[in-house]
Amino acid sequence: MKDELRHIEERANEELGQIGDTKTLEDFRVRFLGKKGEITAILKQMGKLSAEERPAMGQLANKIRANIENALNKKKEELKSAQEAKRLKDETIDVTLPGKAARVGRPHPLNATLEEIEEVFLGMGFNIVEGPEVETDHYCFEALNMPKHHPARDTQDTFYINENVLLRTQTSSVQIRVMEQTKPPIRIISPGRVYRSDAVDATHSPLFHQIEGLVIDKGITMADLKGTLELLMQRIYGDEAKVRFRPHHFPYTEPSAEVDLMCFNCHGKGCSMCKQEGWVELLGSGMVHPKVLADCGIDPEVYSGFAFGIGLERITMGRYSINDMRLLYENDMRFLEQF
Ligand code: DAH
Repeated sequence: MKDELRHIEERANEELGQIGDTKTLEDFRVRFLGKKGEITAILKQMGKLSAEERPAMGQLANKIRANIENALNKKKEELKSAQEAKRLKDETIDVTLPGKAARVGRPHPLNATLEEIEEVFLGMGFNIVEGPEVETDHYCFEALNMPKHHPARDTQDTFYINENVLLRTQTSSVQIRVMEQTKPPIRIISPGRVYRSDAVDATHSPLFHQIEGLVIDKGITMADLKGTLELLMQRIYGDEAKVRFRPHHFPYTEPSAEVDLMCFNCHGKGCSMCKQEGWVELLGSGMVHPKVLADCGIDPEVYSGFAFGIGLERITMGRYSINDMRLLYENDMRFLEQF
């Protein structure tokens, strides 16, 4: 029995040396130390021994059990720390590797320009309002003195949802909405998308942006219009910016004017950038037509006002010397990263 115990201890030590994972170690424990294990099996045979032999054998069995247990616990610790070491190694971060740079965004040139224009008008006490892009014929044309079959509609063909509902061709529609709802004094700008069924080229897009302006109060004159727009241009293009007012016709203003900016490239002499004109057309404007005021419930005998519509793309292109409008919509990072 003694030999058997020694033999068990030897085998246990030998096996333990080979074990490399916790599952095998647990099997080992059950086989040697468990209730149906080898040591227990030996202890069960103790009954066969004489009373004198028993204590010494019991002691030896317990000692061997304790030895195996100790060795097993030691092994357990070893496996645990090996496992931890492996995990630490697997999860090591090489702090010397170059990091992944996060791409930092920036405002699109159209947004940057719009924000600056908004700043200028907010500084002058204007409010910013928005209007719907899907608009009725009434607000887009009719109330602006452009009845059906009016020739001024020709240049503003658009996408119709039905006969009376369309994608707005101009932000001027917002003028009417504001005048119907607000009593003067009114001082607003309204930026937004507009649509026309134009083919895409360097200066046209079926979708573009306008900023409408409207001021209604007692005693507003064309001088206020001129002063406001001049200030805007100087703030956007610099103090040396020169604008000129050129007579024009819009059905909803009287008198009407188009506003040109002196070409930055040639200072009015004429070059390829301004198509030899020396000036670049920027926006339409005028004094709000008395009929338009009256139709909106504002007494033209008491109130007067001015309005204007700026093409955001045109201003942006002039500002950054962009020569093709399509660049503004293509979202090519090589282009956008330059601003
Ligand atoms: N709506 C005009 C356009 O799209 C621009 C314009 C002209 C707006 C005169 C106005 C204005 O408010 O008074 O071409």
